[in-house]
Amino acid sequence: MKISIVGTGYVGLVTGACLASRGHQVSCVDIDQAKIDNLKRGEIPIFEPGLNEVVKEGINRGALTFTTSAKDSVANAQVVFLAVGTPPAEDGSADLKYVFQAVEDISPHLPNECVVVSKSTVPVGTNRKISEKFKLESEKTVFVASNPEFLREGKAIDDFMNPDRIVLGVDEPKAGLILKEVYKDFDCPIVETSIESAEMIKYASNAFLATKISFINEIANICEGVDANVKDVSKGMGLDPRIGEAFLSAGIGYGGSCFPKDVRALDQIAGLNGYDFKLLKSVIQVNNDQRWRFYKKIEGTLNPPHFPASPAGRQGGAGGGCRSFEGKKIAVLGLAFKAGTDDIRESIGIDFALKLIEDGSQVSVYDPQAMDNAREVLDGVEFCNSIEEAVDGSDAIVITTEWQEFRDFDFSKIADRLKQKNIFDGRNLSDPDCMQSLGIKYFGVGL
Ligand SMILES: NC(=O)c1ccc[n+]([C@@H]2O[C@H](COP(=O)([O-])OP(=O)(O)OC[C@H]3O[C@@H](n4cnc5c(N)ncnc54)[C@H](O)[C@@H]3O)[C@@H](O)[C@H]2O)c1
Repeated sequence: MKISIVGTGYVGLVTGACLASRGHQVSCVDIDQAKIDNLKRGEIPIFEPGLNEVVKEGINRGALTFTTSAKDSVANAQVVFLAVGTPPAEDGSADLKYVFQAVEDISPHLPNECVVVSKSTVPVGTNRKISEKFKLESEKTVFVASNPEFLREGKAIDDFMNPDRIVLGVDEPKAGLILKEVYKDFDCPIVETSIESAEMIKYASNAFLATKISFINEIANICEGVDANVKDVSKGMGLDPRIGEAFLSAGIGYGGSCFPKDVRALDQIAGLNGYDFKLLKSVIQVNNDQRWRFYKKIEGTLNPPHFPASPAGRQGGAGGGCRSFEGKKIAVLGLAFKAGTDDIRESIGIDFALKLIEDGSQVSVYDPQAMDNAREVLDGVEFCNSIEEAVDGSDAIVITTEWQEFRDFDFSKIADRLKQKNIFDGRNLSDPDCMQSLGIKYFGVGL
């Protein structure tokens, strides 16, 4: 089938490359000229395991092409996927300016009876508005559908190729048939629903996963008070199939381009419909607090108690002009919001680095993949090429991302090069007993 993908970011590029590998003819369009020029040369703008190979294979077969012309991309398409960003607006709602701009760009060029389908995560009711816009502005028949995306960065290729389910929100049976043809070689359940239900499935899924994370983080906080170990608690809970072990790793909370914005957007959607989603508000609050609770642990350990605690938040100052980390050197390991990606959107490592600088610390940082992206937002830190280089002479090591490289690292190699032997492990990667045997003071979450 002839397919156009509008927006060639994390979701659009993976979708385009994977659909090309499943036999479709795919044209990806983006407004970012540099990105498209690089992609035409086979240069991938993001780190995503396996993506390079799938993109190059598609280009070499002539099944995957790139353009900045919306007209060229959609003119002959039977299906047009919208995969542009839906970042959070000031008030927490999803900002739909990219979606409606994309709709405007493609509208005059769409062929008759093509399906325009949102992969972008959009509030319930958005696709209905898109449909109305086409009805007003286009003489052609345009079917609108919702096909939310559930891929995880870092595992995106496998998630896309082998999904747990494909959700198709359609109004017109014909649109459903066309979309099933797109996915005919995918072996998983297809959930065919109304457009509104499909839109809601995406938000409800992310909100539920975020709830699980905040729940186990609260359990971890209680574990610290009662001398229980949250890793054991998670294991004991997760073996119950009604609970499941996924998303029960306690830590400093979730970040990234999806959970924070989607959870806040769902809270907004609820409010706009006259419902106060109290549980979700708590999930958000717990997640916001969790990282700063951990930050205070670092502050409290490295500093005499007379320093006032830092207020929460990226913008928060140390209060009263006190710079609680003056004269300290702190190594932040992990700048990607999670392992397996170079994405730093809503990254806790970045938040910590910024706050540590504000609080007077000298900061060194290292991440296996996200250094280039981090350079664009971090000023005044030392960018290091390895764990060894980052931690040298530090008063504390703070682990913020669950990279395997950090899990596997042999800290005995560097123990003697630390000024003070403190590890604050925000992802519970290391073995506390092993650290203790090296004379390192180890602080995890809920241990
Ligand atoms: N990143 C994820 O893991 C993930 C997973 C599931 C769903 N989603 C959702 O998918 C959507 C896209 O997310 P992303 O992370 O891929 O975003 P992204 O920011 O990586 O990519 C968006 C791309 O759209 C392009 N764009 C913007 N306006 C355009 C226009 N008018 N025409 C053509 N291109 C345009 C941008 O230049 C950019 O390259 C969001 O709604 C997001 O919530 C993301």
